Amino acid sequence: MQIVKAKFFTIFILFSLPVSAQLPWPPIVIDDYLTTRPEAVELGRKLFADEILSGNKNISCQTCHHPDFGTGDGLSLGLGEGAMGIGTERIANSGIKKRVPRHSPHLFNLGHKSITAQFWDGRISIDPDAPSGFNSPAEAWLPHGLKSLSAVQATLPLTAQFEMAGNTGENEVIGAVRQRIDYAWPVIVERVIAEDNYWALIKAAYPELQNRRDTHITHLTNAIGDYINSEFRSFNAPIDKLSRGESVDLTSDQRQGMELFYGKGQCGECHSGPLFSDGKFYSLAMPPMGPGRTRQWDPWARDVGRMGVTNNADDAYAFRVPTLRNLSFTSPYGHNGAYASLKGMIQHHNNPIQALENYDRKQAVLPNAPHIEVIDWIGFNDKRELERIKRSVDLKPLGLNESEIEQIIEFLKLLDEPELIDKLQKR
Ligand code: HEC
Ligand code: HEC
Repeated sequence: MQIVKAKFFTIFILFSLPVSAQLPWPPIVIDDYLTTRPEAVELGRKLFADEILSGNKNISCQTCHHPDFGTGDGLSLGLGEGAMGIGTERIANSGIKKRVPRHSPHLFNLGHKSITAQFWDGRISIDPDAPSGFNSPAEAWLPHGLKSLSAVQATLPLTAQFEMAGNTGENEVIGAVRQRIDYAWPVIVERVIAEDNYWALIKAAYPELQNRRDTHITHLTNAIGDYINSEFRSFNAPIDKLSRGESVDLTSDQRQGMELFYGKGQCGECHSGPLFSDGKFYSLAMPPMGPGRTRQWDPWARDVGRMGVTNNADDAYAFRVPTLRNLSFTSPYGHNGAYASLKGMIQHHNNPIQALENYDRKQAVLPNAPHIEVIDWIGFNDKRELERIKRSVDLKPLGLNESEIEQIIEFLKLLDEPELIDKLQKR
């Protein structure tokens, strides 16, 4: 997959035009988002931050998607259930068996109607032909009646051993998962409905439910989906004001940065539209680290990305183009968080192979965990694996110089919405 360089980019970057006319996409409006119901959002808000959903009651969704870390966890690769603390303070005890294999992504704008897949490899997606309406790793066991991708997503970590469910023998949730994935959900529902304040919230969200026993996992995860889809909408950053034709003071670096983003840097070709993603998958030859998302027949720690979903060799090491919003708050970057700084991430794009070869491991933000560290750099130290990764690359060197990269970073600040982060932190 090579990128075809679009010719029209030079046309709209004309300094004589008012600034608002320069953006090659229409402003986001509220109707671009899926509708959500306020009562469901309130139920979802509480569930999202509650450890009751995890097997051993020691981790919530928010542990890995925290407002203090731009709805991520501030780590390259996080630690799932059993670890303690939040963000960079999180510590692994000796019971932790491995790191979470991928970087915890931010949750901004997932309720936008243009989003048709989630996860770094897109392994959940909307599929009108599937009986449940979605493709997911839960396959035929995915409950019917889930109303959004975010709701589908919310049903999955609950049953994942290292994320939330816990280890065999530790609790009744993982016990049920071991028999069949869909046996676990009623066990979790049982816990939640036993609490009177939850039953009150559930009744408010779903007045049609007569008694507690009528509650189904979809009632809970649809509410979490509504919460994600409404709470994390980000469309009031300076870039959005520009797109609406409002006046925004741009520095000359930001102007230059915008020109580079949509021109020489080719950024806008993959990070396109108001969400800054075309929703497709490319390999940037990112430095491998961590336990990987090993497939059954993989003999060692590796992460082949999209290929793990499609089994198509062209998709090897390709990952979904992330939407770019509030980047100042969402470090580290990339599917495994290999880069702690935006500069590092953009320098990597600028010359992927060279950056891979010269990668400095100190950029990784990994909680200290001596007993699981041995696996972290197995892929990186394997010359043949590195060769395969290099061969997969979809991006040719961009030829940006140091000051051009700085200008792009200045431009990207226009995508930050600190007021939203503030609001999320105060909730
Ligand atoms: C242990 C950390 C952890 C916990 C707990 C966790 N997540 Fe995540 N989440 C991740 C990681 C890592 C990914 C990316 C995985 C991948 O792409 O393979 C992710 C992906 C997602 C995505 C997809 C975002 C996108 O743009 O593709 C959503 C939505 C999400 N999580 C919501 C939740 C919800 C809801 C819960 C609670 C039910 C939850 N997460 C619990 C770490 C976590
Ligand atoms: C070929 C398509 C493509 C082009 C062109 C491109 N990117 Fe990316 N970008 C990606 C993909 C794919 C990822 C995720 C790669 C991974 O993690 O393996 C990514 C990741 C990022 C991230 C990390 C975001 C996060 O939340 O982790 C930033 C920032 C970024 N790109 C900025 C840029 C900038 C700035 C440019 C222009 C200099 C650019 N990109 C050009 C495809 C592209």
